[in-house]
Amino acid sequence: MINEPSPVALVTGASRGLGRGIATRLASLGISVAVNFVSNASAADETVAHCKRHQVNDRQRFIPIKADMGVREDRAALVERTLSEFGRIDAFISNAGIGPQVRADITQTSLASFEEVLRVNLEAPFFLAQLIANYWLKEKPAPLLPNGFTIIFNSSVSADTASINRSEYCISKAGLAMVSQLWAVRLADEGIRVYELRPGIMETDMTSGVKAKYDKMFAEGFVPQRRWGQPEDVGRAVGALVMGEFPYSTGEVIHIDGGFHLRRL
Ligand SMILES: NC(=O)c1ccc[n+]([C@@H]2O[C@H](COP(=O)([O-])OP(=O)(O)OC[C@H]3O[C@@H](n4cnc5c(N)ncnc54)[C@H](OP(=O)(O)O)[C@@H]3O)[C@@H](O)[C@H]2O)c1
Repeated sequence: MINEPSPVALVTGASRGLGRGIATRLASLGISVAVNFVSNASAADETVAHCKRHQVNDRQRFIPIKADMGVREDRAALVERTLSEFGRIDAFISNAGIGPQVRADITQTSLASFEEVLRVNLEAPFFLAQLIANYWLKEKPAPLLPNGFTIIFNSSVSADTASINRSEYCISKAGLAMVSQLWAVRLADEGIRVYELRPGIMETDMTSGVKAKYDKMFAEGFVPQRRWGQPEDVGRAVGALVMGEFPYSTGEVIHIDGGFHLRRL
């Protein structure tokens, strides 16, 4: 139908890395995307261009929206702008995240770094999910995607892998794992499914500074599938979840890590 609205996904931190992989995949599935970024407007424009190359119908729209996840007012403005531009939200993918500016041993972790990382990686996903869940519960929009609405929290293998040189990051991701469970339980009966993604070692700007170290670890078989994870690997998983391919699962943890999490002897 020509005038049928397009489903809409809000993806935070979609200007680069995994967020761009997610936005592009959703575009290829017929979904419109609100492309959130914080400072890199040209990268966000590039994501929009990628999405346009992959879109499958002319009802889809892709709009870059600047908002700092660490700022409460920005989060509210992001949701408001998404709703005013697109008229609806069908899927929320909480992807934006930061590592500590300095990788310091746990004996030296600063309060400033702890607060910054937890604000962006933990406070923001929790309260953004709250804003969007309340929109769904109050407005009761008719779902456009199979099996209803979806929230996906992009955490990390760091949720249960202790790295003593970025404790604040690990703590933020461990907390996010509980955020996912809490929302999964609260929203299960409302037609809203919630998932946690745990990517492993992914080739993005976030890991560019430690590339040589990880190249060596892959070569030595540290990860069973001996390769870097790519944004597309995450995008494909998000696509399946958003399209309702796991209808009888919620609160599930999806590892996208080449088998990193498997215990071996
Ligand atoms: N790379 C990995 O190995 C890996 C592994 C596991 C999990 N993860 C998680 O996956 C997510 C994406 O990581 P990535 O590797 O794609 O990171 P990245 O390449 O560093 O990209 C970060 C993205 O987040 C945005 N961003 C950063 N701070 C923000 C803020 N305060 N408000 C809004 N947006 C913000 C950036 O926007 P600008 O372009 O405007 O700066 C950018 O789009 C993160 O949550 C990360 O913890 C990454």
